[in-house]
Amino acid sequence: MRRLLPEPAGSIDVTEAYAAALGRHPDRPWVNVCMIAALDGSVAVDGRSGGLSGATDRAVLRRLRAVADVIIVGASTARVEGYGPPSKPGQRVGVVTSSGNVDATSELFTSGRGFLVTSDDAAFEVPDGVDVVRAGTGRIDLPAAIARLATLVEGCRVIQSEGGPTLNSALLAADLVDELDLSTAPCTVGTAGTTAAGSAGTGPAGEHLHRFELAQLAVDDESYLFARWVRRR
Ligand SMILES: NC(=O)c1ccc[n+]([C@@H]2O[C@H](COP(=O)([O-])OP(=O)(O)OC[C@H]3O[C@@H](n4cnc5c(N)ncnc54)[C@H](OP(=O)(O)O)[C@@H]3O)[C@@H](O)[C@H]2O)c1
Repeated sequence: MRRLLPEPAGSIDVTEAYAAALGRHPDRPWVNVCMIAALDGSVAVDGRSGGLSGATDRAVLRRLRAVADVIIVGASTARVEGYGPPSKPGQRVGVVTSSGNVDATSELFTSGRGFLVTSDDAAFEVPDGVDVVRAGTGRIDLPAAIARLATLVEGCRVIQSEGGPTLNSALLAADLVDELDLSTAPCTVGTAGTTAAGSAGTGPAGEHLHRFELAQLAVDDESYLFARWVRRR
């Protein structure tokens, strides 16, 4: 990739461009969101993100996964994207769900690397052998859940949300997103209303104004754009 900001670089390796998370918190894990969106904001082609992706974007995702201690995904994304166990030793994948509608027989869970994130009063039965992080009554208290992840995964410093939009919008509404690693695919798709961080109908409860600063901007030869944004606090 070619870096345009902060210091222009004619050719820079993805590993170097995404060497580390953009910050750390002393008291809770750093949360970054990793997503790809089309020029019109669409986040899926035929219901999955793969159709938007390119070789550099896949390398960025691999690199960001290598930096994270825990990955979290919404239950829909876990279902449609077919999440398996992570390749990084010790890393775990948390599936956020209120309904418990997850495939506990998938390798993600049978490997012991997947776990559930839900509320204290969620009505579903947690499958045998699956760890669960609970926080909140009536709805998932995401700040508390994020704080509790550190007890489930020792030394957890960086949590990566890989979406989807529903989970991302809840994280943003709770002002938990410290870093946004957003790839832009050079196409339009026309998936009306759904964007990287919410969908039409998310409603005013999720409305907010959180400012981010551009920490890095890069491009590749396929016209993809790779931005790293950090929350201005
Ligand atoms: N372009 C990209 O980078 C990218 C990345 C990821 C996903 N995607 C695409 O996005 C689409 C899926 O996104 P989505 O927005 O529909 O779903 P999502 O965020 O993956 O999952 C939504 C589900 O997760 C659970 N959930 C999420 N946040 C929650 C919260 N705060 N409290 C309680 N439960 C919560 C609920 O599960 P229950 O219903 O089980 O309670 C909810 O129905 C797919 O098409 C996928 O391919 C694209």
